Amino acid sequence: MDIIEKGQGKQRDQWTSKIGFILAAAGSAVGLGNLWKFPYSVGTNGGGAFVMLYFIFLVLIGFPLMLAAITIGRKTQLSAVGAYRSIKKNWAFVGGLGVVCGFFILAFYSTVGGWVIYYLVKALSGGLAIKDPKLLGEIFGGFISSPTASIAYQGIFLLITLLIVIRGISGGIEKASKIMMPALLILLIMIAIRSVTLPGAMKGIEFFLVPDFSKIDMNVIMNALGQVFFSLSIGMGVMVTYGSYLDRNTNLLGPSNSIPLLDTAVAMVAGFATLPAVFALGFEASEGPGLMFVTLPAVFASMPLGNIFCILFFILVLFAALTSSISMLEVCVSYFVDEKGADRIKSSIIISIIIYFVGLPASLSMGPWSDLRILGSLNFFDFYDKLTSNILLTSGGLFLSIFVGWIWGADNAIKEIRRGGVKFSLAPIWKFLIKFIVPPAVFIILINSFKDVISAILS
Ligand code: TRP
Repeated sequence: MDIIEKGQGKQRDQWTSKIGFILAAAGSAVGLGNLWKFPYSVGTNGGGAFVMLYFIFLVLIGFPLMLAAITIGRKTQLSAVGAYRSIKKNWAFVGGLGVVCGFFILAFYSTVGGWVIYYLVKALSGGLAIKDPKLLGEIFGGFISSPTASIAYQGIFLLITLLIVIRGISGGIEKASKIMMPALLILLIMIAIRSVTLPGAMKGIEFFLVPDFSKIDMNVIMNALGQVFFSLSIGMGVMVTYGSYLDRNTNLLGPSNSIPLLDTAVAMVAGFATLPAVFALGFEASEGPGLMFVTLPAVFASMPLGNIFCILFFILVLFAALTSSISMLEVCVSYFVDEKGADRIKSSIIISIIIYFVGLPASLSMGPWSDLRILGSLNFFDFYDKLTSNILLTSGGLFLSIFVGWIWGADNAIKEIRRGGVKFSLAPIWKFLIKFIVPPAVFIILINSFKDVISAILS
C-alpha cells in the first residue's frame, strides 16, 4: 500500500486508490482456500451438495458479513482489536480471537504453502511430467511423509511470508497482483477447459454440480460454512483491518460484492480444473488434501507444453498463497505493534518462529506422526483446520454479526455505508440478514461443532 499522510492525529497509511484495497483484500481472499481446499472439500463432502450449501451460505452469510467487516474498519479507521474496542469497549476480544485464529491458520497453511514450493521446484526440474495416477500419488505421499523435506519447505514458505511482512513491500506485491491474479484466472480457465474435455470428465462435472441431497449431514453443513469463512477471509478481522485503510468517502458496496464474487469464481474454476480430471483419469475424489497435487500434474501431462503450464501454475499458486499468508501474519503482527507498542521487525520474527514450531506438527502429521491423534480421529493438521474453520472463524463470524446487527446497530452501520450519498437499496434485506438470519444460523452450526469437540474429548 502506498503511504499517504493524513495530517491529522496519528498518521496512518491509506490506500491511494480503491483498486489497491480491492487487490489486497482479494489477494487475502484468493489463496489455497480456493485452489486447494475447495476442490478437495467438495470431494470429501459429497460433491454437488456441498457446493450448493456453499452457495447458500455465501449469499445469506458471506456477503452480509463481508460488508459488515469492511464497514467497521472504514468507520473506525482502526485495525480489528481497536476497531471493536472503539465502538464498544468490552468487545475488543473479538479482535483478539482473530489474532489467535490467524496464528493457527498460518500454522497449517504454511504446510501446504511448503508443498506448493516443493512442487514448483519439482516442476522446474521436469520431474512432474508424469501421467500415471499411481506414480503421482506415490510422489506426493513420499514427499509429505518425509519429515525433513516437508518441514524444510514449510520453513521456506514462512520465511518468504516473513520477509514480505517485515520489509513492508506488500505495496509491491499488490501491484504485482494486478498481473498475477488475472494470469492465475486465465491459466486456471485453460486447465479447466482441458479437464472438462478429457474423456470421462462428464461424471466429474455431475459430481461437482448435481447435488445429492442424501449426502447432506451436519458435518457437511459445518464444513460448507467453514469453507465460506475461510475462503473469504472473514471472521478474523482481516477485512476489518483492510477496510480501516479506506478513505471514509469511498463506496463500500462495490468491493464488498466484487471480492466474494471474484473469490467464488476462482474456487469454481479450480473445481472445474480438478474434479472432472479426477474422474477422467482415475483418481479418488475423496483423496483429501493431496487432491490438487496428484491430479493437476496428470492434467498438465495431457496438455501440449504441459510442463510449462505446470511451472506457471505453481508459481501463480505460490503467489496467491503468499498474498493470503501475509494477511494472516499481518493481523498477528499489527496486534502487537498497535496494541502493545512492540517493534515491528522483532515481533514479526518472533511470531513467525512460534508459528513455525506450532506448525511443525501439522507437517509431521502427514508422515511420521500420522498415527498421532490429538482430538478424536483428528491428527494435528486436521485439528488446526477444524479448530480454525469450524470453531474460531465461525465464532468470529457470529460475534461480528451480533456486534454489527445489535451492539453497534444495523441502522448505524447503514448510515455509515450510505455516507456521501451512496445508494444502498438492499439495506432492509441486509439489516434483516445481519440481525435475524446470520446470528442464529451460525450459532446453531457452531453449537454442533462444539458438540463434536466435546464428544471427541469424551470418547
Ligand atoms: N482466504 C484465504 C484462502 O482462501 C486464507 C486466508 C487468508 C484467511 N487470510 C485469512 C482465512 C483470514 C481466514 C481468515 O486461502
